[in-house]
Amino acid sequence: MSDQKTHKTIGVLTSGGDCAGLNAVIRAVVHRAIEGYGWRVLGINDGTHGLMASPPRFEELSLRLFTGNILRLGGTILGTTNKGDPFDFPMPDGSRKDRSAEFAAGFKELGLDGLIGIGGDGSLDILSRLTKLAGIDFIGVPKTIDNDVPLTEFAVGFSTAVNTAVEALDRLQPTAASHERVMILEVMGRDAGHIALNAGIGGGADVILIPEIPYRIEPIAAKIKTLHDQGRDHALVVCSEAAHPANGKKVMSESSDGKKHYGGIGHELGEQITQATGAETRVTVLGHIQRGGTPSSHDRIIASAFGVRAVDLLAKGESARMVAWQHRQVVDLPLDEVTSRIRNVDVTDTLVQTARGLGISLGD
Ligand code: F6P
Repeated sequence: MSDQKTHKTIGVLTSGGDCAGLNAVIRAVVHRAIEGYGWRVLGINDGTHGLMASPPRFEELSLRLFTGNILRLGGTILGTTNKGDPFDFPMPDGSRKDRSAEFAAGFKELGLDGLIGIGGDGSLDILSRLTKLAGIDFIGVPKTIDNDVPLTEFAVGFSTAVNTAVEALDRLQPTAASHERVMILEVMGRDAGHIALNAGIGGGADVILIPEIPYRIEPIAAKIKTLHDQGRDHALVVCSEAAHPANGKKVMSESSDGKKHYGGIGHELGEQITQATGAETRVTVLGHIQRGGTPSSHDRIIASAFGVRAVDLLAKGESARMVAWQHRQVVDLPLDEVTSRIRNVDVTDTLVQTARGLGISLGD
């Protein structure tokens, strides 16, 4: 128990796309705040939307809720949203409205002394601006399967997504070998290739295509031919959803609500490989399966460490900071340093060198 009991009330919310490990962060926040400092913790529902609602939507998070299974649960018990930026909120009549003042009003109405927001680069940027404007003490916790938040080696959710993609490759390899096919696995990651690169190495891929290295079909076909010459008639290809040919665009589609999504490059690539090599190809788009499921031990561990540090920072009176994982420990950084940019795969990265060293084609 800490000796600094000030009986604060803090809020915690999850924002942006869900991923495995969010509940582990919430659990750590609740344990540290209640047991360490004697505070109250209010869980805000559906990200920023919960505070903008009138009355605000929330639930008190008591230790009784955390009976043992929450650490293991995918998704978020609080709900989340990746739509409706409060600064530019889409209204039912089609107009846009700045609703940032409603967010601040909700915070005040609940009598909160500070807020912990678990989000990716986009959500942390919005939360950083909202809380700065309203003078709210705020600590950010990075989460995203894309692992593209700057200055942290790991965001919560990434490790589970990579494990899921590796398991998919483990299942694709025997069927590829049985039918002498080229199996293509399209993975998520938005504009960053971290999932594809990590899963491709861990899952024994022969070709890995990431957005940071535009591909040409010739080196991919050459790799498949080399495998054939070596006596192997099947191959595994992992491609990021935003991978693209050197002379082509990223493949996107738009849903009726105007939201753009990556997806579809796997099928284009399959056609290109068949045309260039004559090989039979099949495509698996892993999609949201990467976001669900029980969190890996690694995600649970960093989620727990992040949650505890976030509460400790609020207890020290800190604000506008993000917790991060660097060199085997939790650190914290000014949020301004991490928002408004993403962390792509560095093409000189050790894992890029590892892939090349293993003879994996990166399509260049
Ligand atoms: O940012 C996480 C992510 O899963 C991306 O990898 C993917 O492109 C996107 O979100 C999918 O978004 P949605 O859940 O809106 O389809």
